[in-house]
Amino acid sequence: MDKIIIKGGKPLHGTIQISGAKNAALPLLAATLLVPGWHTLHNFPDLRDTRTTLKLLASLGVLWEKIGENSIRINSENLKNIEASYDLVKTMRASVLVLGPLLARQGRARVSLPGGCAIGARPINFHLLGFEKMGAKLELLDGYVDAHVPGKLHGANIYFDVPSVTGTENILMAAVLAEGTTIIKNAAREPEVGNLIDMLNEMGGHIEGRGSDTLTVQGVETLHPAEMRIIPDRIETGTYMIAVGAAGGDVTLTNCSPNHLPSLFEKLHSVGLSVEGNGSSIRIRRTGGLQNVDIKTLPYPGFPTDLQAQIMALMTLTEGVSMINETIFENRFMHVAELRRMGAQIKTDGRTAIVNGAGSLTGAKVMATDLRASASLVIAALAAEGTTEISRIYHLERGYDNLVGKLSSLGADICQVKE
Ligand code: EPU
Repeated sequence: MDKIIIKGGKPLHGTIQISGAKNAALPLLAATLLVPGWHTLHNFPDLRDTRTTLKLLASLGVLWEKIGENSIRINSENLKNIEASYDLVKTMRASVLVLGPLLARQGRARVSLPGGCAIGARPINFHLLGFEKMGAKLELLDGYVDAHVPGKLHGANIYFDVPSVTGTENILMAAVLAEGTTIIKNAAREPEVGNLIDMLNEMGGHIEGRGSDTLTVQGVETLHPAEMRIIPDRIETGTYMIAVGAAGGDVTLTNCSPNHLPSLFEKLHSVGLSVEGNGSSIRIRRTGGLQNVDIKTLPYPGFPTDLQAQIMALMTLTEGVSMINETIFENRFMHVAELRRMGAQIKTDGRTAIVNGAGSLTGAKVMATDLRASASLVIAALAAEGTTEISRIYHLERGYDNLVGKLSSLGADICQVKE
């Protein structure tokens, strides 16, 4: 297993390009199951999770090939299987995204039920309830959801108790080919959902309400293959923005969408950083001291839970007290214990963390526990005095395309070695 070694204290300078969004690429790949023929995705990120999804699609009979550096063609003409096995789902929960398109096209799907994960129980009851309302019969057998549709899926009124990103995406993919109208209320408004809606509409689907919490889907008889550009990864963007805050410096991020990070911009201004968004680029500079801010994670456009761990690392470097409230997942403070090993003073009580800014951190041996917790440790290490060794970095590889290369090019003293 590899580990990352970072010697902290070097400010970051230069320009890096942001990759396509992991959480947009995964549903867009699943959507290619809806109709045979060659679909093309541009700005496709090279990540462990996108590779796992391609492996899953290949196990269903899907063909794919890379075309050019960041584009890929996918064809589900020879679909021969309807099962997402435990081995794949246990490594990536987003595998459940094949349920909706398989039910819509094949009328059958068998998907291993994802268990809990490092950040919480993460049930998929909203997905399943939605499919049932649309006429699917579901059985839970041997840890698998066995779903079939007598006849055809039909439209339904679906309400989510809380907005679910992959829940909204799964129902959308089922509803595009259903008979009649599906209305999803309290739908997720994340930009990744918008990217999927654009892809489904490009395929001939009829979805209205993009960007709002009510989505109306008029089912259609047939779809056709589509070509789509994956939106820039707003969480990768935010991670580098916070990294500049922690390490200091002056960095320009290109191929990104400043509009997709309204809450982070607001918070980083309050922290005292200079942040300028301009079209598809962001310039971020640290010009003085860091102010503490309070954070509450919320569904989009609120502060993303996927940036909570990273901003916590930044808050340890201020000299004030910050309160961080995690409202989306019940166990997303796994990074706290590791940050404490680097000198951070953080107390947690349930879903609230109180960060007593110590002004500085020191290098240590730490362990990554999930994707975003790992990113938080990288940020802490870039700012820390001395050397930090981060092990179990396969988590990082799930969601950050060429992290070590990108940070090196900005002047960080970082390398990846075999453990
Ligand atoms: N929820 C339920 N029942 C459901 C579905 C969700 O109770 O059937 C609850 C969850 O437990 C959670 C809340 O609803 O409390 C929101 O969860 P959501 O369903 O939106 O999460 P997700 O779709 O499983 C996606 C991202 C996550 C990101 C969350 C929240 C993908 C592939 N994953 O997960 O990304 O944290 O939305 O924004 O899109 C990551 O990239 O590191 C990551 C974990």
